[in-house]
Amino acid sequence: MEVKHNVLLFTVALLMCAQFAMSVRRCSDCGTTPVPYPLSTSTDCGDQSYRIRCETGRLRFDTLNSSYLITSLKPQTQRFVIRPANLLPNSCVTSDLPSQGIQLNSSLPFTVTSSNTIIYLNCSDAALLSPGCSSSLCRAYINGTSEVAACEDAPICCTFRAGGSTTSYSIRVRDAGCKAYRSFVNLDWSLPVNRWPEPGVEIQWASPPEPICGSQADCSEGLNSTCGPDPTLAGVSRCFCNSGFKWDPTVGVCVEG
Ligand SMILES: *[C@@H]1O[C@H](CO)[C@@H](O)[C@H](O)[C@H]1NC(C)=O
Ligand SMILES: *[C@@H]1O[C@H](CO)[C@@H](O)[C@H](O)[C@H]1NC(C)=O
Ligand SMILES: *[C@@H]1O[C@H](CO)[C@@H](O)[C@H](O)[C@H]1NC(C)=O
Ligand SMILES: *[C@@H]1O[C@H](CO)[C@@H](O)[C@H](O)[C@H]1NC(C)=O
Ligand SMILES: *[C@@H]1O[C@H](CO)[C@@H](O)[C@H](O)[C@H]1NC(C)=O
Repeated sequence: MEVKHNVLLFTVALLMCAQFAMSVRRCSDCGTTPVPYPLSTSTDCGDQSYRIRCETGRLRFDTLNSSYLITSLKPQTQRFVIRPANLLPNSCVTSDLPSQGIQLNSSLPFTVTSSNTIIYLNCSDAALLSPGCSSSLCRAYINGTSEVAACEDAPICCTFRAGGSTTSYSIRVRDAGCKAYRSFVNLDWSLPVNRWPEPGVEIQWASPPEPICGSQADCSEGLNSTCGPDPTLAGVSRCFCNSGFKWDPTVGVCVEG
């Protein structure tokens, strides 16, 4: 409901700006899902630092060594949710253990948000030294969830809130640490386990800078901007908004004001 509403609002905003949005092209829909600027499914639209993939009508997010289905998108807050890897049959190991779980490229504008509650499963003894590993929340989760029944036989589990400097680019599983994980977005701790939401990992994208230009022609069509050198990045030029306009990163245009 909320997602639908947000998408609608976003569409209305886009339509209102359509006449100004010629230079920075929004990517076409993926199946029925709108692809908001700056996300890019192709080299000729969006911002190329914000690559995601459209595959058979569904959006996917590629991490360093793995790939995840995008299950929902919220353009206003610059966030989307991916479906975490499944557990291998009858074992307490997630299928992305070989790629060490979710590892984002820290040079790209995507981060794991602090709205995720991460439950690490099948951890080594060494994990017990971490504060989140003595809580009983993860044991209650295992006890109440058939999907992770195999984890009953793995004694050590941990619960963490994601985000902050150390976890913002990864949800790490590995042989020497924890071998499986589940994640929940905006989890209400007071709910009984059987009323927890579907697992998900929320990812946020940083506001995109002005689009790169080769010449003024790339900034034409009423973007109300001028192609000029980027003061922070030598050799790169961008379409900077003319005076009286400011860059609106959520729609990718210069707006009055
Ligand atoms: C825990 O992970 C190891 C892999 O390191 C696996 O062999 C073992 O079966 C897992 N434990 C359970 C209970 O699935
Ligand atoms: C990711 O893939 C690269 C190249 O395939 C490999 O060198 C690297 O070890 C992998 N990293 C992880 C964490 O699996
Ligand atoms: C991470 O992203 C940067 C910027 O796009 C890219 O140059 C680099 O090759 C990426 N690193 C890996 C390991 O994919
Ligand atoms: C495990 O679940 C059962 C029923 O679902 C409940 O009776 C029991 O108290 C739970 N045990 C723990 C340790 O949470
Ligand atoms: C901004 O773009 C709009 C649409 O093309 C145009 O009508 C308007 O004159 C432009 N404003 C300036 C200051 O260039």
